[in-house]
Amino acid sequence: MDALLKVEDLHVNFKTPFGMAKVLNGVSLYIKPQEIVSLVGETGCGKSITAKSILDVLPETSIISGKISLKDKDFLSIGKKERRTLIRSRIGYIPQNPMTSLNPVFTIGEVFFDLIKWHGKEIVPWRAYRKWKRHIKEERDIAIELLKKVHLPQPEDVLSKYPTQLSGGMRQRVLIAMSMIGNREFLIADEPTTALDVTIQKGIVELIKEKVEEERLSVLYITHNLGVAKYLSNRIYVMYAGDIVEFGPSESLLRNPLHPYTQGLLNSIPKLVKTGFSGIPGRLPSYITPPEGCRFSPRCPKSMEICNNIKPPLKEVEEGHFVRCHLYGKDN
Ligand SMILES: Nc1ncnc2c1ncn2[C@@H]1O[C@H](COP(=O)(O)OP(=O)(O)O)[C@@H](O)[C@H]1O
Ligand SMILES: [Mg+2]
Repeated sequence: MDALLKVEDLHVNFKTPFGMAKVLNGVSLYIKPQEIVSLVGETGCGKSITAKSILDVLPETSIISGKISLKDKDFLSIGKKERRTLIRSRIGYIPQNPMTSLNPVFTIGEVFFDLIKWHGKEIVPWRAYRKWKRHIKEERDIAIELLKKVHLPQPEDVLSKYPTQLSGGMRQRVLIAMSMIGNREFLIADEPTTALDVTIQKGIVELIKEKVEEERLSVLYITHNLGVAKYLSNRIYVMYAGDIVEFGPSESLLRNPLHPYTQGLLNSIPKLVKTGFSGIPGRLPSYITPPEGCRFSPRCPKSMEICNNIKPPLKEVEEGHFVRCHLYGKDN
């Protein structure tokens, strides 16, 4: 398959004082060149851990297994240094919270010039760094160009500002500009609008869509908002408690949601015309003692005996539209 990024059977456990937390339970997903793929699911279901695994920024207490490959290069089997260089130079990242993602003691310019100069490099020699500090003309031009691309007025002015002098929406635009440094081909956006005011969320989603199309990027867009997922992406993966429970083309998945969890998520969206939407009762299971079979079974309105004991296999129900649920039997 011609995937750009491929995650196969990814398991991530955490050592905790209460035992081993088995968070990611065999996650597999792929993203083709120029494809925008959304990963949706409620808070705590493992979306950011999936992103952190790909970006190689998991905490020390984690144990990871499986395969993550970018253009067939298996990340987990190469050395840490080569891996980090590859990731930093190829994958752009837009974080969830622009308010905490920029160091308050540096101006936007200082951070930006450093990122441009040392993009993709693992170690910065201090002497070269001090010498370079005096010659930043080229970096300044690149930064201004990128800030213009994210429609920030007076980019020269923005470069001299400290993060606290900018609004949340402006900071997120700066971070989007920073994620575009170098020749990135892949972008991970982890709930990039969640921390922003509702009024500016739409502008940021529009901006990401525009940039992705302009730069022909492939994207993993993480969100808990199915509406945004539908608007942005070609395909959607639905995650529950560390398992991908359903995935497929956005149109097929939203027209014909198969997994009771996906159906519950869709029913939880408040509708202006229809009153009486229902949420999904219950909450995520403990990752230290997760259910043995389907992790959704304790909350599932259609749960059967088998669901408690056996993890369901993947079944392709429509073309490219897969579900992991005993209601749909097994693929032969
Ligand atoms: N450092 C950690 N140690 C133990 N458990 C963790 C750690 N980080 C995350 N988790 C567990 O992983 C779960 C999934 O986290 P996360 O991927 O951040 O969820 P989300 O889908 O909201 O992004 C959390 O609910 C938490 O239980
Ligand atoms: Mg998260």
